[in-house]
Amino acid sequence: MGRIKCIGILTSGGDAPGMNAAIRAVTRSAIYNGFKVKGIYRGYKGLVFNEIKEFGTQNVSNIIQQGGTILKTARCEEFLTPEGREVAFENYKKEGLDALVIIGGDGSLTGARIFAEEFDVPCIGLPGTIDNDLSGTDTTIGYDTALNTIIEAVDKIRDTATSHERLFFIEVMGRDAGFLALNGAIASGAEAAIIPEFATEVDQLEELIKHGFRKSKNSSIVLVAESPKTGGAMHYAERVKNEFPGYEVRVSILGHLQRGGRPTAHDRILASRLGAAAIDAIKDGQRNVMIGIENDEIVNVPFSKAIKKDKPIKTELVDVLKELSI
Ligand code: F6P
Repeated sequence: MGRIKCIGILTSGGDAPGMNAAIRAVTRSAIYNGFKVKGIYRGYKGLVFNEIKEFGTQNVSNIIQQGGTILKTARCEEFLTPEGREVAFENYKKEGLDALVIIGGDGSLTGARIFAEEFDVPCIGLPGTIDNDLSGTDTTIGYDTALNTIIEAVDKIRDTATSHERLFFIEVMGRDAGFLALNGAIASGAEAAIIPEFATEVDQLEELIKHGFRKSKNSSIVLVAESPKTGGAMHYAERVKNEFPGYEVRVSILGHLQRGGRPTAHDRILASRLGAAAIDAIKDGQRNVMIGIENDEIVNVPFSKAIKKDKPIKTELVDVLKELSI
């Protein structure tokens, strides 16, 4: 492997608050350490369609506080094919890139892993997803901000739920992971969370009713992770209407508002640390790892581990929610 002089950076998959702080950190840290930096637009699409531009420190001024990603993002169909990746590699070489920093979730890091293997390209990943579903890192860029957005919304819904004495199913993001639903429920004082991790084990609705979740209350809030495994909030509302009539049920789907907004201090600091650590990793000759954080220490996680989709839900959190919702 030749000496690395120029680093390409891209954001891919669903955006997450704090991605801009990460772009800023990677860019500034790279330049500080004598590397050239190029911004790649629209995720892997930018590599396939050659939308690449050199970045100076000024390109990342005034973005640490902004949600979204100044590099734009996309889920790139072309990059899923060997032909598309071939074109991406041609452009990679043409632009004089020697390494890539990819900020995104499991799909994006899976793409990085394949690209790295096929073309011997040094790739460093940063965990950028509100879902917090990457293994080997305690948390991901955007997760804390999304959680805060969720609790703000749930606090508001609780006002009307209480006034009308209703049962609300509130659907939150998380695709196949219950972290947002579970911790969102704890932080907003919700009565329960329905999460994909337990979808096949128990009937989570029956459990709720069995535990008399509404005995002493005049309103109830249940957070449901959007996932084919749970069936989503509408599914549970329908079931309650049919199986447990007597409850006045409403549904609220929070949707993409969870992905926007100014990143919290936590996400800005996390993104800054991980971004700087990505450049340290490149300097150390690391490749094909995601930079994560464990017990407040930076860790390098092989892509194969990061994308395994086996991050456990702590049973302690499940118990806390159950105990505190009586
Ligand atoms: O991966 C992040 C995520 O926000 C998931 O929680 C959600 O299921 C998905 O993206 C939504 O994706 P899109 O914006 O493409 O609809």
